[in-house]
Amino acid sequence: MIQTKAHVVKRESERGHVILTLKAAALAMRLGPGQPILVRPGPGLDPYLPRTFHPLSIQDDLLSIRIPPDADRGHAWLRARSVGETLDCLGPVGRGFRIAAQARRLLCLGEGEWAWTLLSLVEKAVAQGVAVTLAVEATSATRAIPAQRLPLAVEYRLATVDGSRGRRGRISTLLPELLSWADAVAAAGTMAFYQTLAAAIEEQRLLLRHGYAQALYPSTFFCGVGACQTCARDVAGGRRRVCLRGPVFDLADIV
Ligand code: FES
Repeated sequence: MIQTKAHVVKRESERGHVILTLKAAALAMRLGPGQPILVRPGPGLDPYLPRTFHPLSIQDDLLSIRIPPDADRGHAWLRARSVGETLDCLGPVGRGFRIAAQARRLLCLGEGEWAWTLLSLVEKAVAQGVAVTLAVEATSATRAIPAQRLPLAVEYRLATVDGSRGRRGRISTLLPELLSWADAVAAAGTMAFYQTLAAAIEEQRLLLRHGYAQALYPSTFFCGVGACQTCARDVAGGRRRVCLRGPVFDLADIV
């Protein structure tokens, strides 16, 4: 993990959220899909705690982060940053997603805001020639990932709870069809979503085996190096610090 200055080289504002593209060569070269970075959310010590971001894209010396449209004071400060400014960043945190050498059909499943954390994995898998389906559940069309953010080769399936785009309802209704296609799964969502996913896999494949599905543990981080203990959870057979053992786990280890 390194601490570094990242230069804001691009700022996009869209539907209330802001996407900042950051130039930080040393950080980008160490970073992989599923590994978050911590960003200082103000010019001084207030707010004190860093904010957690999963880069949407990691390319050469660039990475991009999305600041969501919420009421958090640190996020508000970050949304106001402009091109030319610098941000204090720390990362990468923990272990990310792995793309198995034998994977040919990768199913990425995202629930709500967590779905955005899968975009850098989608980008990397497509670049490696893996067939990717991204299935997302959003509350409405305005909160969903826009299709134009995805590589052309990706099949995008969307379910919206209010029916404003894609299939109306929950993503769980798509799981039997999608799981019969996939030879590997990567998921990002809530623990309740992971329970549903594990049950669907057991229904489809009779057994949830290690090595089939990975899941991003839904957590934010304060130190990212195992010192503060705030991310300790009962996972993988014991009390573990998610920032060290995760945040990406085998699904069988967290449900
Ligand atoms: S974030 Fe501090 S121990 Fe994990």
